[in-house]
Amino acid sequence: MKMNPVIDKFTDAALSEMRQNHTYRTMRLMESPEASRVLLRDTKDGTSREQILLASNSYLDLANIPELKQAMANAVLEWGTGSGGARLTTGNKIPHVELETEIARFKGEEAAITFNTGYMANVGTISALCGKGDYVFSDELNHASIIDGIRLSRSKCLVYKHNDMADLERAILEAKDAAGKSGAEFRGMVVTDAVFSMDGDLADLPELLRVAHGHDCLLMIDEAHATGVIGKTGRGLAEHYGCGHADVTVGTLSKAVAAEGGFVAGSAKLIDFLRNKARSFIFTTAKAPAVAAAALNNLKFIDDHPERVQQLRGNVDFFCESLRCEGLDVATSPSAIVPIVIGDEAKAMQVSEALQERGILIPAIRYPTVAKGQARLRASLMATHTKEELLFAAHTLAELCNTPNLVPRT
Ligand SMILES: Cc1ncc(COP(=O)(O)O)c(C=O)c1O
Repeated sequence: MKMNPVIDKFTDAALSEMRQNHTYRTMRLMESPEASRVLLRDTKDGTSREQILLASNSYLDLANIPELKQAMANAVLEWGTGSGGARLTTGNKIPHVELETEIARFKGEEAAITFNTGYMANVGTISALCGKGDYVFSDELNHASIIDGIRLSRSKCLVYKHNDMADLERAILEAKDAAGKSGAEFRGMVVTDAVFSMDGDLADLPELLRVAHGHDCLLMIDEAHATGVIGKTGRGLAEHYGCGHADVTVGTLSKAVAAEGGFVAGSAKLIDFLRNKARSFIFTTAKAPAVAAAALNNLKFIDDHPERVQQLRGNVDFFCESLRCEGLDVATSPSAIVPIVIGDEAKAMQVSEALQERGILIPAIRYPTVAKGQARLRASLMATHTKEELLFAAHTLAELCNTPNLVPRT
């Protein structure tokens, strides 16, 4: 590598620390499009191997459907390769606006606004709504983009225990008390993932609504892993529970929708406010109109094919049941994410590597992403996995978990 002593001063210590504590990351290289089976480049010997992909966020497997690819290609021909400007200058094109109308309709809200990523949606929304002196109540397992949004907002962050409504209420009362003592007006927002990305469990929306609104707080949920997955037709938590909506619903178009971009859906006033205040919306070039068109077409496809959402649900039930039949202690996941907790960090890594040798890609997730001793394989399912693939994966997984001394590949 090229020598640069100034860069070294900024990078060396961090890189060697990550290498030492095994948190240094490398990237897998895929040689085929995202689908239920992929070609993975083996970084050790440079060969290609077919893998059953049990690790994708493309839950409905829409990324490689010929008619949807063709629709995106047509949009490129019609709209070109880039937007050329920010949404508030010259970048706002018809596909951006049509996409927002469709998201609002799909989510059953008055209006929607899109961002370039879900990360930017969370960061921009929280920092626009909340500021110094405000309180944000955040589930301890929330996604990094929520945490970063809270930090950027400079509001006071009170973290409550995962999905624990009594602890949330305790935190709100504590904040109200502190605000009361200082004579300041209390403004608070509760924010939570809808589907927790490492455990696959759901936020309790009816209870969150009760607690948040009972204390005059806003409620914001992030439906990144819920949109297209949760509820009979994939509309998310409100459809699943048959309850009211959060005040602010964030989501991404990069997972089940299989395009790119983040969104917020809610009241027309909220969206108008974000258009004028969310810095990650204002100070960035609009995404390529063809990407917006792809998200729009894919979302319409989900709307027209609710059976695909149900197919995914059926696959999750079948896979969890198959794991249990193989003797593994796995609950039926309410989402598309199925964690198989191994505990030991090294064992989880070895099982994941051995699975890959046998053509099954399920990543191991370790500390610091999850708590120490909670290392796990994090499987995520697609609507198109076959029963044979799922049975094979469940059987192989159980066999490897029960093998005492897996030898790591050299
Ligand atoms: C819960 C959650 N929110 C937000 C994001 C960010 O979405 P995006 O990938 O569109 O930036 C992710 C994952 O990437 C996520 O898991």
